[in-house]
Amino acid sequence: MTTKKLDVQELKIGMYVRELDRPWRETPFLFQGFEISSQDEVLELRRYCQHVYIDTPETYQKPAPRTPAELAVAAEQLRHKKAEHNLLIEVASHPLLKPVYHDQNRLEQEIETAGELYHETRELVNALMEDVRLGKNINSLGAKRVVSELVESVIRNPDALSVFAQLKKKDEYTAQHSMRVCILALSFGRHLGLDRDELNLLGIGALLHDIGKMKVPNEILNKPGALSDYEYALMKSHVPRGVEILDNSSGIPRPAIEVARCHHERYSGSGYISGLKGDHIGLFGMIGGIVDCYDAISSDRAYHTGMSAHAALKKMYEWRHRDFHPGLVEQFIQCMGIYPIGSVVELNTGEIGVVVTMNRVRRLKPRVALVLQPDFYPVPGAMTVDLADYKTRDGRPCEIDRVLEPGVYGINPVNHLPVNVAA
Ligand SMILES: [Fe+2]
Repeated sequence: MTTKKLDVQELKIGMYVRELDRPWRETPFLFQGFEISSQDEVLELRRYCQHVYIDTPETYQKPAPRTPAELAVAAEQLRHKKAEHNLLIEVASHPLLKPVYHDQNRLEQEIETAGELYHETRELVNALMEDVRLGKNINSLGAKRVVSELVESVIRNPDALSVFAQLKKKDEYTAQHSMRVCILALSFGRHLGLDRDELNLLGIGALLHDIGKMKVPNEILNKPGALSDYEYALMKSHVPRGVEILDNSSGIPRPAIEVARCHHERYSGSGYISGLKGDHIGLFGMIGGIVDCYDAISSDRAYHTGMSAHAALKKMYEWRHRDFHPGLVEQFIQCMGIYPIGSVVELNTGEIGVVVTMNRVRRLKPRVALVLQPDFYPVPGAMTVDLADYKTRDGRPCEIDRVLEPGVYGINPVNHLPVNVAA
């Protein structure tokens, strides 16, 4: 491999940066060696370095995509690099950010309450959607009451409601999507350290972010093929129609409406409905955009099969800078834990299992329900192991080797979660 010293002023997108003129750990860059993919990365390199070493064109080979393990290690490193990390400093110094929460309940203690709440929320969302279809106003008092209970559950332990967010039925997409976006937004807001009042505002906005879809024909929302220009314009109209409905309903706070208004705006300015760019989108709009996109690409729809949670996080990492605030995407990946609840994983023991609880301190060591033995025979009985202290047969620490697609080997993750409810 031949490298060439280059002044940072001469850097261009597409070059592969092999070395810096200072230690990597003193910079915000996630990977020790990376291909420059955006002008923002060029500017960041100029900010931190005088010169760098790039692969020469003769020796340069396009790098393989980052593996889940590399992403996991990078995200783990980020936690320790907060003080030095420019993007995270930017996020951490946002005036809404507060110190993080600690779990008050274990998952087993919170799961029953979370289950009742989930069903209560589903009934409320279905009623709200029906009201809007009939041209009635939003029951804002009901929405606020349910969201405040969701906030308390997420503060006590966000994993419990996240388990229920795995329950997916195609025919109830908009209602379930709204609930999942609400639960994801609250978990993410908790991770970012938003206080109770802010979480309540964010939660109401997230729950109602797509309410304008009740005014868009189902044939367009669920159309399997490509939309015509006219149909796409109609689909996009769910944003202004939603904002109008929320504006006209008494008692919906303005910051909550920002989630509906801005959840399709994109960081580069390429989103709709206003084409807002960068920080003009606002924190609630950015959070709404991230969790809405994450749920949309990881769910089955009439026009696409949802990707695994893990693959969705990787995709969103690729889209940082272009679509989302890069620091917030990194925080979201940390919040989801690289191996989100419901991920189907292969261990270095050869066993295959489902992630049932995240470890918010050691993010690479979740609890896993074992499903298949190395010989692919089912694991007898229900057996859950904590990867923090589970070992291979020869005594090595147990690790996740790779993440598998949902449905592989006929595994339905929901059947292995610590809850027995009908979707
Ligand atoms: Fe939307």
